[in-house]
Amino acid sequence: MSFFITGTDTGAGKTWATVALMRYFKAQGKTVIGMKPVASGCNEIDGDLKNQDALLLQENASVYLPYATVNPYAYREPVSPHLAGVGNPVDVDNIRRIFLQLQNAADVVFVEGAGGWLAPINAHCDIADLARSLGVPVLMVVAIRLGCINHAKLTYRAIQASGLACAGWLAVCPDAKMTRKDENIETLQAFIDAPLLGVLPFQAPADFDVLARHINYPVKSS
Ligand SMILES: Nc1ncnc2c1ncn2[C@@H]1O[C@H](COP(=O)(O)OP(=O)(O)O)[C@@H](O)[C@H]1O
Ligand SMILES: [Mg+2]
Repeated sequence: MSFFITGTDTGAGKTWATVALMRYFKAQGKTVIGMKPVASGCNEIDGDLKNQDALLLQENASVYLPYATVNPYAYREPVSPHLAGVGNPVDVDNIRRIFLQLQNAADVVFVEGAGGWLAPINAHCDIADLARSLGVPVLMVVAIRLGCINHAKLTYRAIQASGLACAGWLAVCPDAKMTRKDENIETLQAFIDAPLLGVLPFQAPADFDVLARHINYPVKSS
């Protein structure tokens, strides 16, 4: 089983939600892997460029994976990958090859996108093209904040237009001061005909095991 994690924006909560999903599936007895194929905004650690999101996914996997497998495209500059990657552009087929190997290494593979659904990753492809190439169901992370209804509807429509199944969506609450959260979520539920898999409350700092307890995805025992 695999999922592609997208969000309504950059900073929408994709990484936190992915880690919570990994902890949730682990608690259900599944082995998990998280991949962040394309990341910009990386720092040099022990001589290699590494990204905090990818490190978190690497740490939370059930099996050890080399960093370059988790994050094959790591760019220093914190800008869109199609700009940061000039000179070493993203090769979608290469990501697909790595992903296919990872599918054999755990029960569930989560692939976190970069930015939002139509964020460009090289001169020709965007995140939707990458997800289509992997051919897996999509989970949409919605940051519940002012403007989220428009962002979520646009993203959901675009996922549908891509032909991929949306297996569900998660509401995450990165804004402690946001009022009328429940009404916003209800409005979105009326529009999105994929299941709401969880409402992740505001937390600072994060306790991913607590966030995982707010997820509800029917997991079949094997
Ligand atoms: N449940 C939450 N509670 C509080 N803050 C959150 C929550 N989820 C996300 N955030 C905040 O939003 C930031 C961006 O989340 P992240 O998962 O890294 O987004 P993305 O991966 O979509 O860029 C986090 O660093 C954190 O500060
Ligand atoms: Mg992220």
